[in-house]
Amino acid sequence: MNILVTGGAGFLGKPLCRALRTHGHTVKVLDKKENTEFPTVIGDILDEAKVATALEGIDVVFHLASFIEAGESVQKPYEYTQNNVLGTVILLETMRKQGIKTMIFSSSAAVYGEPLQVPIKEDDRTMPINPYGMTKLAMEALASSYSYAYGFTCVALRYFNLYGPGEDHEPETHAIPRFIQQIREGTQVTVWGNGEHQRDFVYVDDIVDAHIKALELEKGKYHYMNLSGKNATRVKDVIQLLETYIGKKANIQQFPPRPGDPLLLFADGSKAKEELGWESTTTLEDGLKKTVEWFIANKSV
Ligand SMILES: NC(=O)c1ccc[n+]([C@@H]2O[C@H](COP(=O)([O-])OP(=O)(O)OC[C@H]3O[C@@H](n4cnc5c(N)ncnc54)[C@H](O)[C@@H]3O)[C@@H](O)[C@H]2O)c1
Repeated sequence: MNILVTGGAGFLGKPLCRALRTHGHTVKVLDKKENTEFPTVIGDILDEAKVATALEGIDVVFHLASFIEAGESVQKPYEYTQNNVLGTVILLETMRKQGIKTMIFSSSAAVYGEPLQVPIKEDDRTMPINPYGMTKLAMEALASSYSYAYGFTCVALRYFNLYGPGEDHEPETHAIPRFIQQIREGTQVTVWGNGEHQRDFVYVDDIVDAHIKALELEKGKYHYMNLSGKNATRVKDVIQLLETYIGKKANIQQFPPRPGDPLLLFADGSKAKEELGWESTTTLEDGLKKTVEWFIANKSV
C-alpha cells in the first residue's frame, strides 16, 4: 500500500516508517522536518495545499503529527488546539475530498485524565486534565464522526508511557529519557512524590507492531484501544534499573506530588489483545537496556 505518515520524522514516526517499508509498503512522510530515509513533503498539516499534495496517490494515513507536551499545553491551549485539532480536521477533510478513507492515529492515555480506577479500560471515564489530553479526545471525536458520517476506517491508538531508543525531544519532559540524561550527567533526578507512583511504560517497537496490525482491522468502522506495557512499574524501580545499566547512582531529589499526578496510572490491555491480536512483548529490563545503549551511543553528557 501507499502510506503517508504525518509526523514521520519524529521519535515514533521514524521506526514506524522503517517497519512499514519492511512490510512491503511504500512510505511518504509529511512533517515540518525531513526524514532523510524517506521521501518527505516538508510542510505543516495546517497548510491544506501541502496536505493535498502529500496525499496524492495515498491509500492509508498514519497520523502522528501533534504538539505533545501536556505541561506546555496548559500555557498554550490555543496553539495546541489549532495544531492538533484543526490540523486533524484539515487532514480528514482533505482525505475525504481525495477519496482516502483510512486513518490510524496517535491518541494517548491523556484522554482519561485522573482515572477513577485502574487498570483503565477504554470505556472508563474520559476527562482530560490538560489541553493536550483534550486535543487527543477531540481528535478521537473527529475520527469517529468521519467513520459514522463518511464510512471512514479510523483507529485511535491510546499509548500509555511510550519510551525507547531515539527519544530526543527538546525540551524533554518524559520520565525515562530525562532520568537517563540526569543520571549520566550526575545532575538532580527530579521525582515528584516518593517514587511509589506506578506507570505503564510501553516500548516503542511494540507500539510500532500494533500500528502494523491495525491495518488489518475491520473496514468502515471506528476503533479505539489502549496500548499498554507488560506490567505497571513503580518510578523508583525504573530509576534503579537505569542506575544498573548506566553504572552510576542517581542523585534523587524528591518533591511533593504534583496535582493531577495520580499514584496509579496503568491500562487494561485486553481490548488490543482481542481486537488487534497484540500485546507488548518487550520486558522493561530489555527495553531500558536498549534505550540506555542508544543514549550512550548517540547523546553526549
Ligand atoms: N511520546 C509519548 O510518550 C506519547 C504518548 C502518547 C501519545 N503520543 C503521541 O504520539 C505521537 C508521536 O509522538 P512522538 O513522541 O513521536 O512525537 P515527536 O514530537 O517526536 O514527533 C511528532 C512529529 O510531528 C511533527 N509535527 C508536529 N506538528 C506538526 C504540524 N503541524 N505539521 C507537520 N508536522 C508536525 C513534528 O515536527 C515531529 O517530527 C504524537 O501524536 C503524540 O501526541 C506520544
